[in-house]
Amino acid sequence: MRRLALIAACFAFAAGARAAEPAHFADADNETLVMHGLDIYSQRCAGCHGRRLEGQALWQLRDQYLGRRAPPHDSTGHTWQHSDDDLFAMTKDGRFPQAPKDVVSYMPAFDKSLGDDDILAVLAFIKSRWPTGIRASQSMLNPGFKGMPKDADRVDWTLPPNCTASFQRWGLSQPK
Ligand code: HEC
Repeated sequence: MRRLALIAACFAFAAGARAAEPAHFADADNETLVMHGLDIYSQRCAGCHGRRLEGQALWQLRDQYLGRRAPPHDSTGHTWQHSDDDLFAMTKDGRFPQAPKDVVSYMPAFDKSLGDDDILAVLAFIKSRWPTGIRASQSMLNPGFKGMPKDADRVDWTLPPNCTASFQRWGLSQPK
């Protein structure tokens, strides 16, 4: 009887672990994928987001003619403050799923010109450029902390000074 309960518990645990998978995951440890992503990034994203992922000049500003400029994808921007599922949707549809409908985004939708695999490759490339602390912080936004860097227990790293990502993940309001 006890063994049955144990088996049932194992199944329940396995089902739970499966449920904790993001719908889309960009694997920054897969070098082939990252190299493919670099190709796509150079051709399709670098023109706006910068060759070195640095974003457009004065990207924080929003003006009446140009609207919002392309933010950096490196650790100085806020790409890492979004889950893989949200980054996937942003690249595919040109907007975050939770963005209000009347908000205009100047990010093009790539749903017609890039396949889902290409989108994951380019996101894997972007993620592969982040330092361990940024990668760890972003992985906490994914179900099951998917994408936690493999060497997180071996190298010295710190979470970014602004831990918004972790607070969002845990559904807590940020300390004032
Ligand atoms: C024509 C210029 C342009 C191109 C090309 C472009 N983007 Fe963007 N992207 C933007 C702008 C502008 C924003 C900001 C949108 C907003 O805040 O409404 C943005 C935002 C984003 C965001 C959200 C970042 C954040 O932190 O909010 C992601 C992710 C993104 N782009 C990925 C990509 C990828 C991947 C490519 C290439 C496949 C790409 N973009 C190509 C202009 C561009």
